[in-house]
Amino acid sequence: MTQAATIPPATTPAAAAPARVAIIGCGLIGAQWDADSPAADYSLTHAAGFTKNPGAQLLACCDHDQARAQQAAQRWGAPHAYDDPRRLFAAHAIDIAVVAAASSARWSVIEPALAAGVRVLVIEKPLATTLAESQRLVAAVEAAGVRTLVNFSRRWDPAMGDLRARIQRGELGRIQRLVGSYGKGLSNNGSHMIDLVANLTGAVPLRARSLGSPLEPGEAEWSNGADPALDVQIEYGPAAGCGGSGADGRRFQLTMLGSDQRAFTCFELRVTGTLGMAELSLGGRQVTLTGLRADPQYAGYTIPDAPQALPARNLEAMDNMVAEALRLASGEQRAASCDARAALTTALAVAAARRSAERGGAWIALHELD
Ligand SMILES: NC(=O)c1ccc[n+]([C@@H]2O[C@H](COP(=O)([O-])OP(=O)(O)OC[C@H]3O[C@@H](n4cnc5c(N)ncnc54)[C@H](O)[C@@H]3O)[C@@H](O)[C@H]2O)c1
Repeated sequence: MTQAATIPPATTPAAAAPARVAIIGCGLIGAQWDADSPAADYSLTHAAGFTKNPGAQLLACCDHDQARAQQAAQRWGAPHAYDDPRRLFAAHAIDIAVVAAASSARWSVIEPALAAGVRVLVIEKPLATTLAESQRLVAAVEAAGVRTLVNFSRRWDPAMGDLRARIQRGELGRIQRLVGSYGKGLSNNGSHMIDLVANLTGAVPLRARSLGSPLEPGEAEWSNGADPALDVQIEYGPAAGCGGSGADGRRFQLTMLGSDQRAFTCFELRVTGTLGMAELSLGGRQVTLTGLRADPQYAGYTIPDAPQALPARNLEAMDNMVAEALRLASGEQRAASCDARAALTTALAVAAARRSAERGGAWIALHELD
């Protein structure tokens, strides 16, 4: 490990100098997924994304697991490796800190980053594992005036951007309802779907209820039982001061049905509007659009037409997210597509559904928990 005492702190960079980046958490999404394909023309990890962008200098990799930090630094050409975020931030001026450690370890990374005065925090989803921790983080980053970006990665997938534009200009008509299947935890993975629906429709979650769960208890063993894939219903409506919620600002519901993550990684969603449907398949990578046609067999009926697939573009998401983080660091962009406050709304929806599960399935309004 590099010793803090031997490294002179970097000076503030000139405007055009690359942003100094540290990655804390060098596991799968931090540094490992594409460690064997570092020259690919897309990025699956933060390490690949920031290394490939000339606007960034990956200065340090940090992981509690010392060997992992060293391997990541070596693989991605970072000059420094640490096993403790505090020593990292004491040794270097960092512009962008990437928080990709375990979800339960957010504060232990973010607290020293804030104390060291980083400009941008790129925080992996979910914001935190509990509502209390999520609220604490938002209060701390807002008090510090730090820009945040929370990596609900489909926000940076251009195919989702295309679908969003189509929904918001009314191509699907009024949103009637959304039905999804997911697995591996309401907070851990279901949060992606809750955020995605907000992004696609421009509406926000207002209240949630639990529909119970038919899954075996072993389904949630990966989280020690703390984050089961509950069946939930979430009602969305217009965000304050904004038209939102599809074409006309009315409320609609997302029903999310949990599946057993031991079988496969599930993330499938169908959006039904009054003028057609959209479907996300292949783990949320493929978007298919379905318009309507007059039924050729039964006169007077209208049925879904043949589905049309949009090109899958999920492999562009990490590089797009990195580019946005760099714009936040340079001041070219003031607010992220998804900042900590937006991610807090998703955490509130998760907490409302969990509270509902304790209360026999009653609707819980998000503002009751805020
Ligand atoms: N945006 C996405 O689609 C997406 C995909 C995968 C993971 N994630 C999120 O990324 C985060 C990491 O997930 P992963 O799959 O890479 O996990 P992982 O277990 O592969 O890696 C996490 C790493 O964090 C390290 N770590 C834990 N606590 C630490 C601390 N206090 N300081 C420094 N290092 C610490 C661990 O040693 C481990 O190497 C999670 O929050 C997860 O929810 C997001």
